[in-house]
Amino acid sequence: MMSHASAPGKIILFGEHAVVYGQPALAVPVHQVHADAEVSDSDRAGIWVDAPDIRLHAEHSRLALDDALGAVISLVCAETGTCPAETISSSSGETASQKDARRVISKGLEIKVTSSIPLASGLGSGAAVSVAIIRALSAHLGQPCDDETVNKIAYEVEKIHHGTPSGIDNTVVTYGKPIFFIKGQPIELLDVAKPFTIIIGDTGIPAPTKESVAGVRKRWEQDKRKMEMLFGVAGSLAEVARQSIEKGHPERLGALMNENQRVLTEMGVSSPELDKLVEASRKAGATGAKLSGGGRGGNMIALSTKENAPTIVEALYAAGAKNVIVTDVR
Ligand code: MEV
Repeated sequence: MMSHASAPGKIILFGEHAVVYGQPALAVPVHQVHADAEVSDSDRAGIWVDAPDIRLHAEHSRLALDDALGAVISLVCAETGTCPAETISSSSGETASQKDARRVISKGLEIKVTSSIPLASGLGSGAAVSVAIIRALSAHLGQPCDDETVNKIAYEVEKIHHGTPSGIDNTVVTYGKPIFFIKGQPIELLDVAKPFTIIIGDTGIPAPTKESVAGVRKRWEQDKRKMEMLFGVAGSLAEVARQSIEKGHPERLGALMNENQRVLTEMGVSSPELDKLVEASRKAGATGAKLSGGGRGGNMIALSTKENAPTIVEALYAAGAKNVIVTDVR
């Protein structure tokens, strides 16, 4: 028997970094890229993880305690009450389905993980891998996690990736829909009244989210007044952007993106490479552009009309983009 699950990539439209400090942010899934997990029974004892993209092939209990893939598996086992046999001291009080699931695990499992989402690029590869594994593994154990549980587990794993995550990445990847997000509040799906086109340009430079989040925190500790003012502006931009999207005026997002980019630059998370792609897309006709995600590398986004998209794509490659994705938000 084999169980499979897939999870999309994501981009943040507005409010990255400020969202960590309680401001609202907007994010959308990127279905052109995805992470996939396949769980199958195996004759070999233990839970084997095979992730060729990161050259990992190991038995779960041999993974380091802070390994994100290992943590996902442990959390799913704990959630479903199906800890591998060696970690169980007493099996009393188990339900029939937990017993069944443990029988599956004690025979051995193989989890194959693949992903077309570039690592450390701001496209949510870590969250997507977690969500795909949680869904495939819990389904294989006969106890599929609902979205809320998937999101909760993926958030725990994000803490390993990022330190102090807001939870926006795991949420948009779990629900696979455009969202308006405020840390710690119930998620709100965005009602996209009129579809619009976003172009995503990759600098090819890894975006060290953990470090850029820590860098922003340091600046905040040094000058809380200034940083909180910047966070507030980013939050207001996200609010106005939400209204523009829900009222059918996506063309208004360009000016808001430019303003968000200015604020992110002041927060210290842009980079010469990101600035170059932002400039190139604007010169090629994008009405707005900004970095997306942690910054200092990774991806930027530009707002485009459908007709002008090829011109912007070409300009981004000419300015050094390593990869470009055109995605429709709907
Ligand atoms: C990372 O995709 C987005 C950040 O705002 C961090 C977070 O929200 O956890 C930079």
